[in-house]
Formats: sequence, structure tokens, C-alpha cells
Amino acid sequence: MTSDIFFPRILHGGDYNPEQWPEEIWDDDVRLMRLAHVNVATLPVFGWVSLQPDEETFTFEWLDRVIEKLTLGGVGLCLATATASVPAWMDQKYPDILRVDVNGVRQRHGNRHTFCPNSPNFRRLSTNLARRMAERYGAHPGLLVWHVSNEYGNPCYCDQCGAAFRLWLANRYGSLEETNRRWNTTFWGHTYTDWSQIEPPTKNGEGSMQSLLIDYDRFQSESLLNCFKAERDVLKEITPHIPVTTNLMGPFKPLDYHRWGRELDLVSWDSYPQRGATPAEIAFNHSLMRGCKEGQPWMLMEQTPSQQNWQAYNSLKRPGVMRLWSYQAMAHGANAIMYFQWRRSRGACEKFHGAVVEHAGRSDARVFQEVAALGAELEALGENTLGARVEAPAAVLFDWDNWWAIEYSSGPSVDLKYHAQAQSYYSALHDLGIVADVVSPDADLSKYKLLIAPVLYMVKPGVAERLEAYVRAGGVLVTTYFSGIVDETDLVHPGGYPGPLRSLLGIWAESIDVLSPSESNSVCFEADGSISDCGMLCDLIHAEGAEVLARYERDFYAGMPAVTVNGFGEGKAYYLATALAAGGLRSFLQIVLDEAQIQPPLGARPPHGVEVTEQTLPSGEALVYILNHNSVPAPVALPAGIFRELITGEEVEGMLELGAYGVGVLSEV
Ligand code: GLA
Ligand code: ZN
Repeated sequence: MTSDIFFPRILHGGDYNPEQWPEEIWDDDVRLMRLAHVNVATLPVFGWVSLQPDEETFTFEWLDRVIEKLTLGGVGLCLATATASVPAWMDQKYPDILRVDVNGVRQRHGNRHTFCPNSPNFRRLSTNLARRMAERYGAHPGLLVWHVSNEYGNPCYCDQCGAAFRLWLANRYGSLEETNRRWNTTFWGHTYTDWSQIEPPTKNGEGSMQSLLIDYDRFQSESLLNCFKAERDVLKEITPHIPVTTNLMGPFKPLDYHRWGRELDLVSWDSYPQRGATPAEIAFNHSLMRGCKEGQPWMLMEQTPSQQNWQAYNSLKRPGVMRLWSYQAMAHGANAIMYFQWRRSRGACEKFHGAVVEHAGRSDARVFQEVAALGAELEALGENTLGARVEAPAAVLFDWDNWWAIEYSSGPSVDLKYHAQAQSYYSALHDLGIVADVVSPDADLSKYKLLIAPVLYMVKPGVAERLEAYVRAGGVLVTTYFSGIVDETDLVHPGGYPGPLRSLLGIWAESIDVLSPSESNSVCFEADGSISDCGMLCDLIHAEGAEVLARYERDFYAGMPAVTVNGFGEGKAYYLATALAAGGLRSFLQIVLDEAQIQPPLGARPPHGVEVTEQTLPSGEALVYILNHNSVPAPVALPAGIFRELITGEEVEGMLELGAYGVGVLSEV
């Protein structure tokens, strides 16, 4: 498994924008980086115009000088291809680069990440810059990783995209007739009689053909991915040995990151938790990102050392929280802890975004000191945590196609939000102390004892067969209300719900009742008579082979099954026909965890607010991360044995006393 190790050490550093500063300051930057134990700088992400002030002129000399200073200072390079911000001259000269937004309005020059992914001019000019970067710096000894563009994400609705979309459809479905059939265009007389009639779905255009909308999302995700691939291929041609990444954004709806993950050498992502985010929400995002590359170690490419500027209330991370969240990322597989950004900018819209070096420019400021202290700790950890993989006995299934499809659906309930649903099941496991992966339906499911597939509305070809194989071989599956409804083009599976999951689940669903937030029903579990509130959706199902575990208590469907389990091969398949309230969900999951024989990492559920993850190092040795998310100390009972806490180097036995926001990284002695 040594191929999982990309870097010789834990990377510590972040976005550095020297082109935004006079050259006199660069020496001070490097001096401060050394003080902060920074060993990597990401640059020049937004430097395109500084490197290419017009089409014929290239000005790499300033970058040569910065790179030399960084290298002398022992700072490695996360080298950006610099194509994230299109120069003004380029938009002016090639207006087809400017993207058209969902309202059909062509953007004027400004902002960033604003190109049309199907613009041939953008493709030519961006790959050309990537090539020049690789030719100039590809052999540089400090080069650690390529950072292509930055946070790809803005879909485009221009005519170029329209033409490319029609080709994409012809390629996918083979003919216009088949496209019509798959989209069910006879509905409302939508039949297309010529390819040219199909247009990008702008707000003033098509909004009722959900299959078209889903396909447009697929197409745009793929178009942006093609931009990444084009740059990557150039880099790989010249520097085949240097890993290539681009920074992802967690649960970012427009891009199907499972498809992106296949094209990256390693995942990197930017974590900016919302104010009040729970540990489970942050952990979900890390798990989702890790799952885009089958659990391989990844880079925390950006986090703020202190505060953001783009949320409504940009409070400071409390002392110790940045360190805690950095270790949380490592507990979920990060091998790089990096910040946006190195030095707080003087002007424009990010001057109030946190940075390692703040406007006062001092190294005795709290934020700088916390960064430097963490840097020293990571340096001391050396190679001891590198390349470890998270060991998760459970997984939550997540699928972008399903996300798009559910949320384009008109009905059954506006409250049905896919990401929130997936999060709620992940959070319930997290609260029980169980580490879960978040994986695509294509992942290797056989390594999990438990798989939760919330709201699996869209069951694409092969997925039911994979789930059946998983359960037949002994896996425990949970799926929920509003599952097994449509195929990959949003056509309802023939024979009704849950479509191809019917024999696996041993039920059939007749209809779906919808409850408003002020309404609820309740279910009663047969085994112990316990009662749980439920709401949002209530599927009216019939058992045809499954055992009924709980029944609805009220309304005209009182007595109908609400929770079922079906034995299938060596395993079990559970169906939750309604959304259980938190307490009921926890009790239900405990039944399921017992069935799957899953225990929390230290053998017992950790104290409230303490998160524990287990990892396996490439050597086969185990690591345990223990994170105290509480602002007060927490004692954590350890299983029998002597452990070494890797940050302090001390031996611990019996009990680990963690301070407020404290962290322990244990290995067995
Ligand atoms: C993103 C970008 C950065 C910066 C930060 C601010 O993650 O990649 O360039 O704008 O947001 O939070
Ligand atoms: Zn376009």
C-alpha cells in the first residue's frame, strides 16, 4: 500500500499569492514561513495575467524568483497551473470564453472561475499555460504536486455548450428517437423532431423535463472535468511522476465528484464549516471526499486559520479549534494541512478573510502562534501517520445523480433534501461512535458490515444487483422511504416501487403519504413496544416476505408496516418507510449495528462530543485518533493495554485525559 504515500512528510502550508505583494515582502514571507513550520506553498493560483499579460508575452521571471526564495527556505511547491482567473485581455479578445449563466445572461468580465468549459479558446489557452508551467518547473526539485485551476464549479448555458450537449446526447443515446424515449418527451407534447431544438435549460427555458435537467447537470460536470483532464494530460505528458489534483468543495452539488475522483491522482478539498457546524457534519464532508478515491489519503488544501469573510457572521475559530479540526481532517485521512491563505490581502473582497499572517504582519499574534505550534507538532510526527487509511465498518451511500434527480422532482415534499438526508444517517452513526465511509454505488461494498443507502430514489443499472450481491454475501443494508423509484433517466421503474429493490427488500410500496413539518405520526416496534415519532414521508408498504419490525400507529394506515427486515442470502435488508425522530432512529440503528456486529472503535461509545477514528498504517499497525470537540476537558476510557500518544510521545494506559478541544493520536506499544 506504499503507493498511497505521496509526500515525504505531512504537508503544512497553504495558498500564497506573492503577485499581490511588492517583491520586498517576499523575504519576510519566507522568514515567517520558516517560523510557522510551513513546508509547502500553493502558488500562483490566480496568477494568469501576471504570467501572461497578453497572448504573446510570458513573464515567468518573477515566479522564478519567488520559487527560488521558497526553495532556499525549505518550502516545497504545490504548483498551480494558474488558470483559475481569466485575464481581462483574454475575455476581451475571446468573448466566447465568458460563460452564460442559468438566466441565459452572458457574464461580463470579472470575478473568477468564469469561463465556458466548452470554449475552444479557453481550452487552448489554459492547456498552453499548463504546458509552459510544466516545461519550466516540471524538473524543479521542490515540486510536490500540481494544483490545476481552482474550485471548478460554474456551469454554463451558452450556445457552444448547447451544441456540445447535443453531441453528448447523441453519443449517449444513439439517436434522437431514443433521447425522446428516455426523456419521456411525449409528456406535454415535448417531442423533439430535430436535434437543434434541444437547448440548455436556462431559467426562461425548459424546466419541466427533469430527465433533461439531470442530463444537463451530468454534461456540465463532465465538461468542467474535461477542462481539468485537458490540463492534467499536458502535465502528465511532461511530469508523469508528479501527482495532479484540483481542490474540491465537499458536498458541492453541481459536480459529480465520484467521477472526478477517478481522474485525480489524489483528492484535495477545501473545508470551510458553516458557523455552528457539528463535528459529524465536518466528518461527513471528509468522509465524502475520502470516498471519491476509495479511501486513499488526501489533502486538506484549504481551511481558514481563523475566520472566513463570506459567511453572514465570520466569527473567529476559538483557540485550539483550528488545531482540533486539523487533526480531525487527519483522523479522516488527510496527509496535508493547508490554509487559505498565507498573508491577508490588502484590498478587494477577501481582505477580511483569515490568513496565517494578518494585517498587522506579526508572528506574535495568536493565530500565527497556533499555526506555528501545529506546524511544529506535525513536523515532529514525521512519517508516523503518513499513508494511514481509515477503517470504517459502515458506509453511507451517496450518489450525485440521485441528488440531482430527487431535488428536481416536483413532489412529494419540499423538505426532502438529499444531502441533509445522507447527513442525518451519517450523524446518527457518528453520535453512536461509529465511523462511516461515504461511498458511491460503484465502490467496493464488500468491506462493509453495514451499508445505509438513504433515499435511493434513482436506482441506476447494475445498482440493485450490486446491493443484492452485497446482502447475499452477508452484508446488512438499510434503505429508506422514496427508494427504488426511477431509473437513470428518471423514468419510473415498471411495476411500481421499490422497483428493482423489491425482492431484496421483500416489500412492495403502494403509495406515499406526506406530512408537513407540523404533522407527525408514530411507529411502534413489535419487539419491545417502544414508540418513535416519525414524519416527512410515510410510505404505505406491504410485506411480501419481509418481517415487520414496526407499524404505524395512527391515521388510516395505522397497523401497516413502517420498518421491515428481509433475510436475503447470508445478510439482511432493512426498509425504513418513514423518517424516524432522532431517538427512534438511534434505537433502530442500534438494532442494526447489533445485527451487523459493529462496535465503536474503543469498544464503547465515547463520551458526548468525543470522536474516535481508527486507521491502519501501510505497515499494518493501527492508529487511533481521539478528538475532544468539547470546550471542556473529557476523560476517555481506553481498552486494556499500553498505548503511545504520538504528539506528546508519552505512554498512556487506562484513561486518556483530553483538555478542551484536545487531541490524542494513539498507537499500540
Ligand atoms: C475558496 C478559494 C480560495 C478563497 C477561499 C476563501 O476556497 O479556493 O481562493 O477564495 O475560498 O474562503
Ligand atoms: Zn458555455
